Amino acid sequence: MSNGRESGTPEQSAEPSGRLPPTGFVEQANAADASIYETFESTWPDCWEQAADRLTWNDAYDTVLSGDGPPFEWFAGGTLNASVNCLDRHVEGDGKNRVAIKWESRTGETRVYTYQDLSREVNEFAAGLRELGVEADDVVTLYMPNIPELPIAMLACARLGAPHNVVFAGLSADALATRLESAASNYLVTCDGYYRRGNPILLKRKADDARLTVDHDVRETVVVDRLDGDTHLGANQHDYHELVERHAGTVVDPVERAANDCLFLIHTSGTTGEPKKVKHTTGGYLAHVTWTTETVLDLGPADTYLSTANIGWISGHSYVVYGPLAVGSTVVMYEGAPDYPEKDRIWNLIESNAVDVFYTAPTVIRSFMKWGAEYPDAHDLSSLRLLGTVGEPINPRAWKWYYEHIGNEDCPIVDTWWQTETGGMMVTTLPGIDEMKPGSAGRPIPGTDAQVVDGTGAACAPDDPGYLVIRRPWPGMPLALQRGRRWADDHAAPVDIDGWFYFTGDGAKVDDDGYITVLGRVDDVINVSGHRLGTMEVESAIVDVDHVVEAAVVSIDDPREDGIYAYVTLEAGVTGDEAIRNHIVDRVRERIGPIAIPEEIIFTPDLPKTRSGKIMRRFLENITNGEQFGDTSTLRNPEVVGELESIVRDRTGTSEDSE
Ligand code: WTA
Repeated sequence: MSNGRESGTPEQSAEPSGRLPPTGFVEQANAADASIYETFESTWPDCWEQAADRLTWNDAYDTVLSGDGPPFEWFAGGTLNASVNCLDRHVEGDGKNRVAIKWESRTGETRVYTYQDLSREVNEFAAGLRELGVEADDVVTLYMPNIPELPIAMLACARLGAPHNVVFAGLSADALATRLESAASNYLVTCDGYYRRGNPILLKRKADDARLTVDHDVRETVVVDRLDGDTHLGANQHDYHELVERHAGTVVDPVERAANDCLFLIHTSGTTGEPKKVKHTTGGYLAHVTWTTETVLDLGPADTYLSTANIGWISGHSYVVYGPLAVGSTVVMYEGAPDYPEKDRIWNLIESNAVDVFYTAPTVIRSFMKWGAEYPDAHDLSSLRLLGTVGEPINPRAWKWYYEHIGNEDCPIVDTWWQTETGGMMVTTLPGIDEMKPGSAGRPIPGTDAQVVDGTGAACAPDDPGYLVIRRPWPGMPLALQRGRRWADDHAAPVDIDGWFYFTGDGAKVDDDGYITVLGRVDDVINVSGHRLGTMEVESAIVDVDHVVEAAVVSIDDPREDGIYAYVTLEAGVTGDEAIRNHIVDRVRERIGPIAIPEEIIFTPDLPKTRSGKIMRRFLENITNGEQFGDTSTLRNPEVVGELESIVRDRTGTSEDSE
């Protein structure tokens, strides 16, 4: 393994003994029978009917999984529409007046959509998109913050069978342009702007910049008026509200999609400099997220649910929009940041909405800890029944804080491991069945074959670090994997196994009970404050700056701190000054977005390299994180490691500009 984190610190390793789920929870849990593991195992792949049967199909599927694969196909012969599953069936059932989305703006304004309201606006907007020419299989790019119009637009696309391509609103115009191009998308929905910590961010301006740089023609743009109502609309630009009003009361027939038709595509960071395009299916994906929402998040129609995930990322697609709406829950959404205007915003939302289930990321929990227990302690959080985390390993101290201060030791915690590529949760405890071990995600969910293996594919002995691979297809798997394509990433996989497998890019270890502890990425992807970034994406932005010769970025691996360190070499005779530093920051902001701006930029005459010239990022990680570094004798320039270590020690011990 190459990330140098395998030994971990004692704080990071799982506690030996588990904690039983609270009895009060078990008594009402959606899944409380431990035989589910055995049943799924002995009936695989037909076990996944349990997930598919939670959906409403037009034509029933013929087979659960066809093909000894690859290619594989889930639920072949079945047809359905995702918006029908998230809306119509609740409206037609007993849910029409149930709240689907309750949204709070950054100023405390709230908007409430019942399932009926949501369905009406989704239909009207779908009619609007259709008027603009959107047809089945046209890709519609959505570049919007967490406002209700984002899930509305997603479901409107789903209704038309037009895959959406959501781009996180914090990404730059350049990043949007790349994603419009990669998806060959002719339609864009955005908004004039939004507020982040009280500051307006002009999104349409970024969208216009992107549109101008895209090679193909972005034919139509729809703009949601969020800020001030006087946004200039150019040719082929339409006001969202006018468009919806024009189609008031229109009902759009849902387009019947085959189970394997694309529901959406989403871009994530891979190991190359280009974003990785992941396409999810309508049937398999929706079955996977619906089943895990019910089984792992324990959600149902009676529940109110809050997640801090931004809809722009996969966690928001799967567990803010599709899963929770498919099971008919009430989703609380908010605009802006969890600490704006006050550090108790989330606790306020939980208290005032009597939220039952809360899902967040370890990085957010660590911020909560930093702000202080007095904020949650001042609120009545007794409505909570279950807590969840996703996005990175949770260190036991943060786990304990979450368990005690937020869950009052009454709520199980599910530490859910999954990825953009898996579509839905893959490794976690089932909260009504399994013991919890702080720091360890748990077992693979029933029916899933996730294993920790060495480079030859042999299972690792308990507690030995290895690679996390998935050895059996799963319903939420993306189209490319079904078709047997291995992503470029997989070619570089350090594991080689006979037969089909998917390498996750993560290192992990497994204990005697089969609990998997994820150790972090072992490829060139880093995880910063819950954002997944490719080192090469960031590095190629940095080397684009005049006078920069080489760059290597690594993430800070410290539960108290998040961020990136960038190590940069310059042309001979050029000194690393504030001007170059500012250029680097500007370029990263412009190419990717503020999330990728390095915490520290360290100029160095050289980077640690192997004799063949490969940059050894592992040593840079050790230096950044103040860890012991191993044998430097394989380096061409071992002396640079010691030099860099003292530069970093000096920098972090002194002020920002002391270099
Ligand atoms: C990491 C987010 C440890 C992991 C849904 C994975 C985790 C990457 C966990 C995917 C967890 C996610 N414990 N690590 N519970 N959940 N990760 O695609 O490194 O943004 O490969 O999907 O996040 O990030 P992505």
